[in-house]
Amino acid sequence: MRRRTPTGRSATAARTGTAETTAPTARVHGAERHVVLGLYRSDHRRQQLEAALTAGIRALDTASNYRDFAAHRILASEAADLLSEFTVSTKVGFFRAAGGVEHSLDPGRLRRAVAEAVDELGRVPDVVLLHSPERSLSGDLAADYDRFAAACAVLADAVAAGLCGSWGISCWDSRPLARLLTAGEGLGASPRPDVLMVRSGLAVGADGLDAAEQAAALLGVPPAGRWGMSPFAGDAANPAWQRINPGAFLRPGQQAATLPAVFRLAFELPQVARVAVGSTSSAHLRALATATELDVDAAQIARYRQLLAGRLRPEAP
Ligand SMILES: NC(=O)c1ccc[n+]([C@@H]2O[C@H](COP(=O)([O-])OP(=O)(O)OC[C@H]3O[C@@H](n4cnc5c(N)ncnc54)[C@H](OP(=O)(O)O)[C@@H]3O)[C@@H](O)[C@H]2O)c1
Repeated sequence: MRRRTPTGRSATAARTGTAETTAPTARVHGAERHVVLGLYRSDHRRQQLEAALTAGIRALDTASNYRDFAAHRILASEAADLLSEFTVSTKVGFFRAAGGVEHSLDPGRLRRAVAEAVDELGRVPDVVLLHSPERSLSGDLAADYDRFAAACAVLADAVAAGLCGSWGISCWDSRPLARLLTAGEGLGASPRPDVLMVRSGLAVGADGLDAAEQAAALLGVPPAGRWGMSPFAGDAANPAWQRINPGAFLRPGQQAATLPAVFRLAFELPQVARVAVGSTSSAHLRALATATELDVDAAQIARYRQLLAGRLRPEAP
C-alpha cells in the first residue's frame, strides 16, 4: 500500500503534483475535513495515541522542540508500532541554545534537524513544517525574503532526498509572512509548500484571518494543504467560551455542545481541511471527531467576517 501524506495525496503524488485523494470523511471546500492530534501540550505517551485511534483520528502533529526536544524519541520508544497508523507531521525551526531555546532559519541547522527527526522517529515523517518562520523575520524585506526562500529550499530538498513525504510552513502569526509574500508577490521561482498551518477559529482576529488567507493564496497552497491549529487558543477552560453561542453558526437542526461547535468553526475561520487540537481525553477526542460532521451556515460565517473586519453595512431603511 502506498503511504499517504496528510495533504490527501500519496508521497509520490505530493512530489509530482498529481491529484489523488483519500477516502472522504466529512468534505469541505472540496477537501476532506480531518482532526489532527496536536501534541504540543501532551506527554507524547502511548495512551493518547490509542485514544486518538479509537476516536478515528489518524493524524498527529509534533515538533522537534516539544517535550524539551525529546518528543520524537518518546514517540519512537513509547509507540513505534502505533506510529505507522498515523500520518505524522513535525516541525523544525527551534533549537537548543545556551540558557534556553532559540529560533533559526539557518539552512545547515534546518537540514540537520530534518535528518535527526527521521532518525529519532524511526520513520520518515509525512510532512515537515518550517516552525514559526516569523520568529526569524526582521522586517528587512529583502534579507527576510532570501532567508525564508533558503529555508524553504532546505525542506523541498528534504522531500527530494526522501527524508519527508511533503513539506510546509506553520505560522503562529501569519501577518509577517503575508507581508513578506505580498512584497515579493509570492515565492517566485522557489519551491512551493504543500501545507500551510495557521491559527484558526473564533479566537483569531480579522487581520490574522486575512493574513492567513493571503499567505495561502500567494504560496499557492491547495485546499487540502490548508491546516488550522489551536482552535481553543490553548485554553478550552476559559469561561469566555461558555459565554458565546457557537450554535448560532450551525445550520438549522444541528446540535452540539459548545466546545465541539467551537472546534467545528475552526475549519471555517479561515477555511482549512485539518485542525490540530490538543487533548488528553478520549471523550473529548471523540466529541471533536463527531463535530467535523456538523453543517455550518456559510452566510453566518460571512456576516461574522464582515463584522470582525468592520465592513458590516447597516440595512437600508
Ligand atoms: N507555531 C506552531 O506551529 C503551533 C503553535 C501552537 C499550536 N500548534 C499546534 O496546534 C495544536 C493544538 O494547539 P494547543 O494545544 O495550543 O491548543 P488547543 O488545541 O486550542 O487547546 C488544547 C486544550 O483544549 C482542551 N480540549 C480539547 N478538546 C476539548 C473538548 N472537546 N472539550 C473540552 N476541552 C477540550 C484540551 O484539554 P483536554 O486534554 O482536557 O482535552 C487542551 O487543554 C498543538 O498541539 C500543535 O500541534 C502549533
